[in-house]
Amino acid sequence: MSSSGEAELLHTFKGIPFTTRSSPELLKSLDTFDAREDDVLLVSYPKSGTHWLAGVITKLYNTQVTITSPIEFGDISQLEELNKLSSKRIIPTHLDYNMLPPNFKNKKCKMIYISRNPKDTAVSMFHYYRENPNLPTVDSWTAFFDLFLKGNVVCGSWFDHFLSWEEHEDDKNILFLFYEDMKKDLPKVVKEITLFLSLNVSDNDIQDICKKSSFSEMKNDTEKENSNPSHTVCALTSNRKLIFRKGAVGDWKNYFTPKQNIRFQEIFNEKMKLSKM
Ligand code: A3P
Repeated sequence: MSSSGEAELLHTFKGIPFTTRSSPELLKSLDTFDAREDDVLLVSYPKSGTHWLAGVITKLYNTQVTITSPIEFGDISQLEELNKLSSKRIIPTHLDYNMLPPNFKNKKCKMIYISRNPKDTAVSMFHYYRENPNLPTVDSWTAFFDLFLKGNVVCGSWFDHFLSWEEHEDDKNILFLFYEDMKKDLPKVVKEITLFLSLNVSDNDIQDICKKSSFSEMKNDTEKENSNPSHTVCALTSNRKLIFRKGAVGDWKNYFTPKQNIRFQEIFNEKMKLSKM
């Protein structure tokens, strides 16, 4: 990674790297954010399927809902903008549990955490780093692999992020989802989401929503859309078209060398020894 690029594009807040698209003033003010009881949070580590989940969820409501930009995105005016919204808010975020505005926790807002095999997440993030002008340059997969394992990437360590949320797995207001389960049986996961959000959606409508949320449909829609491409649910990108790359499970096998796989597995086993995953 070029150090000048890193210096210009990333800054660290409470030990976690953020892009300069999240201003330090905004991050400092998050603690004062006023949540509403009916807010729904979509939480993820980057490249875990956030846009997919957001695409599904917005189609489930037949009332007016607004999927906002991520709470940690922009400058201090972001909190003001969110406050002004009169409709129900669905708020995406890549924040670690410990950095989440306490008001969301106190008001027991519903939160959906989506996770993905970290090996596929790493590969997806590697491509994202290469394509996204808001992220530092990476020279090679080998270099990125090391950065990812050290947690020296935007949003910090995948392990710390996952563990900070997993600790709250049994909280009734948090639903845990996996990208791989969505790939395997999307209607089943969508049904689970409707129950969690107390939405009444028929099985036929669920089938229809799943068809419209396939990788190819979502990619096509994005390519055709005239709307502002900078409106993404991820604080890292300036271009929604960068999101839909391959949409597959197991792409890591095309990148990890056998040695890298062993190293990853060792670190995974060590960091996740107390995890149920
Ligand atoms: P790949 O880079 O492996 O293709 P996020 O939205 O959190 O940034 O995650 C992006 C990843 O989700 C990308 O993974 C993207 O292709 C994948 N994705 C987006 N929409 C999808 C869909 N409808 N079905 C399957 N994967 C999808």
